[in-house]
Amino acid sequence: MTTVTALTPPSTPADICARFNATRRRTLILCDPLSVEDLMVQSCPEASPAKWHLAHTAWFFESFILREFLPGYRLFHPDFPWLFNSYYQTFSRFPEKRLRSSFSRPGLDDILHYRGYVDAAIELLFKRTLSEEVLRRIELGIAHEEQHQELLLTDMLNAFFINPLRPIYRPEEAHGESKPADAPESAETTGAEDAIDANTLEFESFEGGLREAGCGGKDFCFDNELPRHRRWLEPFSLARRLVTCEEYAAFIADGGYTRPNLWLSAGWDAVMAHGWNAPLYWTRKNNEVDGEWRIFTLRGEQSLADLASAPVSHVSYYEADAYARWAGKRLATEFEWEAVAEDRPVAGNLLDADHLTPTEVNREASAPESHGLVQLWGDCWEWTASAYLAYPGFQPLPGSLGEYNGKFMSGQMVLRGGSCATPASHIRSSYRNFFSPETRWQFSGIRLAS
Ligand SMILES: [Fe+2]
Repeated sequence: MTTVTALTPPSTPADICARFNATRRRTLILCDPLSVEDLMVQSCPEASPAKWHLAHTAWFFESFILREFLPGYRLFHPDFPWLFNSYYQTFSRFPEKRLRSSFSRPGLDDILHYRGYVDAAIELLFKRTLSEEVLRRIELGIAHEEQHQELLLTDMLNAFFINPLRPIYRPEEAHGESKPADAPESAETTGAEDAIDANTLEFESFEGGLREAGCGGKDFCFDNELPRHRRWLEPFSLARRLVTCEEYAAFIADGGYTRPNLWLSAGWDAVMAHGWNAPLYWTRKNNEVDGEWRIFTLRGEQSLADLASAPVSHVSYYEADAYARWAGKRLATEFEWEAVAEDRPVAGNLLDADHLTPTEVNREASAPESHGLVQLWGDCWEWTASAYLAYPGFQPLPGSLGEYNGKFMSGQMVLRGGSCATPASHIRSSYRNFFSPETRWQFSGIRLAS
């Protein structure tokens, strides 16, 4: 048995049990708008079929909790431990990721039975007196499933964009109607709106100095947020809001994608190799040269005019960096971002707000405590200028769970703040998301810094 020593003490068993049940339910609710055929689509190398997400999240609880901690637990199926393993080399062999859409068997009914079987076993586990170690593992399983909820949505957005019919995941008019009564409370606040102008971009100055970064509280965090340590920050400023679609369209109109001097070398190579001329999901209507921009979202296709003040999303790190250079600014480091976010309550356009797409500033009622900045939480993950590296003294979790985060600390950049697809319970100021700099299928956007 391995011990999850890097995690901080957990909440009470009753809290964790309630969060487990709500999280498991929400994964199924997110699949409500999808057909059985939708659940099988894997439309880009980064994505997985929704049916696989359903199975793999159950696999995590079975593999890292039930098998070790529930006496007498019997596997649901002898092949599932390797079939639904994602990337844990020390746990078992696993199928190639690109083959996941070929898993027509086991069928959806079997996968749903698997989920129910695992849920029932976890319920049995909660009837026992659980050690801190078991509770920490269950919290990790909940956080893991929350990550897959976001992936499920971003994967379906890509699947529906690739589909020539451009299906709509949930039409705008259904907003709020399909929100389940037992869904977690919305983190979107109804406090007084800040006077943030979508037409002008203002900056907020910060003093810098010696600051601490990393998880310091008693709540759950991942091993990559530890240990808390000191960082020196020079004085800096952050834009009060995210870069909008309209502002990004000005970058495109100014030849942003045709001027190599704006781009990092690898970024320009990516522009050339992929033929990028706009964010992912932007297409021109009728005329490929100067037709009106249309932007595909989980709420369907919308015009640039409709989304002019909404944050630009689905840009790579390279595009964020090139835009910042064009604007005469830069991207923040992850430590600047964290120093600003640390004392601001988590509130904004997160999954719980149910918009399912980044929204313009005046639709987001920002908390009074977040004076100065909006869209810090939710809307889009913010690319930072920081490479995803271990903090000084980092210790990966022991055993196979050590592969969760640590082995990806090469060739990736950190993103902060969560998105409109991130559960509010999942995000915090020390949270580090990470993707390779070419990645565009996540809700990734831009906040300027100087
Ligand atoms: Fe996973």
